[in-house]
Amino acid sequence: MWLRMTELLTADRAGLRQAAALLRAGELVAFGTETVYGLGADATNARAVAAIFDAKQRPRFNPLICHYADAAAAFADVLPNPVAELLGERLWPGPLTLVLPRRPGSRVALLTGAGLDTLAVRVPSHPVARALIAETGRPIAAPSANRSGRVSPTTAQDVVDELGGRIAAVLDCGVCTVGVESTVLDLTGERPSLLRPGGATLDTIQAVAGPVLCGGGSGEVRSPGMLMSHYAPLVPLRLNAQEVSPDEALLAFGTPVQGAAALFNLSARRDLTEAAARLFSGLRHLDAAAQARGLARIAAMPVPETGLGMAINDRLRRAAAPREGG
Ligand code: TXA
Ligand code: MG
Repeated sequence: MWLRMTELLTADRAGLRQAAALLRAGELVAFGTETVYGLGADATNARAVAAIFDAKQRPRFNPLICHYADAAAAFADVLPNPVAELLGERLWPGPLTLVLPRRPGSRVALLTGAGLDTLAVRVPSHPVARALIAETGRPIAAPSANRSGRVSPTTAQDVVDELGGRIAAVLDCGVCTVGVESTVLDLTGERPSLLRPGGATLDTIQAVAGPVLCGGGSGEVRSPGMLMSHYAPLVPLRLNAQEVSPDEALLAFGTPVQGAAALFNLSARRDLTEAAARLFSGLRHLDAAAQARGLARIAAMPVPETGLGMAINDRLRRAAAPREGG
């Protein structure tokens, strides 16, 4: 489906120029930031952004972060409030992402924000990343450069391993220094709210922004990507279940097989989009039920290996795989 040469570019003048030209032409280029490697596309080009979702096999409801060379450029696409301006001034460039209302008239493609009326913006501190964004002259949409649900890459080689053959190039920016993703902070409410803990600590943020709302259950829902974290249930998972026993919880697809102690149906009407959207909540739900009731395992009915079914089965296989170190 993808099958192409992925070029490994050196972070010198020529490499930067080539990476920027590829991005402007609508191609996908992975690049290092201080947190993790990002899979970059011209955020104003909807087709290029769509290619990110395809390469990552990422469900489309998950919005992307827009990367800028400086705060002024970022605030040209969103409507900053005084707290955002202060945070931008003090903590950018750096591992902090701010969710703000999208500015009317912004050229950023709607798909970048997955159709939301908010946009996540960030100014990375990695010098090569900033040079690349400046050279490209466009906002760069970039999720972590891993296939969806996998561990984020922190070296150029990690990216080649994850996405080689699916993207135009990887700009080698060395090893990422922070190593965890940016902190995602929602500034659209009355108070700043933490959507994802990350490279910028809460203390650092609160020192600038004052009290920040944390967790409280709603955080995961409001940051859609958190639902797609690298989730594997604590109880064992059995794939391809054609029947179930009374000590199992059933993750169903279509008409459930009978006899399980607990049931979660991914999609009664066998809709893969619905099933993908419910996959992790289903696993979480059954995991909790199985633990509370002392069930032996979760049994998952087969899901077709087509469209989003490939991604669903990939996650299920991952969750069912034996775990290292017990
Ligand atoms: O460090 C990072 O943030 C890396 C580097 C490449 O910059 N990027 C990254 O992107 O981790 P990604 O796509 O893997 O995670 C972005 C997170 C997701 O949890 C997503 O749901 C959330 O940010 N997000 C993006 N836009 C949002 C929005 N408008 N509202 C709420 N959450 C949003
Ligand atoms: Mg990620």
